[in-house]
Amino acid sequence: MIEFRFDGEPIRAEPGQTVGAALVAAGRRHWRTTRRDAAPRGLFCGIGICFDCLVTVNGHPNRRACLTEAIAGDQVTTQEGPGRDDLAC
Ligand code: FES
Repeated sequence: MIEFRFDGEPIRAEPGQTVGAALVAAGRRHWRTTRRDAAPRGLFCGIGICFDCLVTVNGHPNRRACLTEAIAGDQVTTQEGPGRDDLAC
């Protein structure tokens, strides 16, 4: 098992497991809010098509949780609206 952080809390994942799958396995159902209504979103299609599962990984927003491999030590955070790239110049 590997471990990453989601909003500061430890989440365990199998090697090769996606961030989305690990979050669902940990009991999380949403990790993004919509731009207009701040409605909660998480996995929907699970195959990279709908973009409902966007999350911020290591300061980079708009990563699809259903396609992003969970890496030990990653800092994953809830994305609000369009997100903010903390690493942008
Ligand atoms: S759940 Fe649809 S793109 Fe990730």
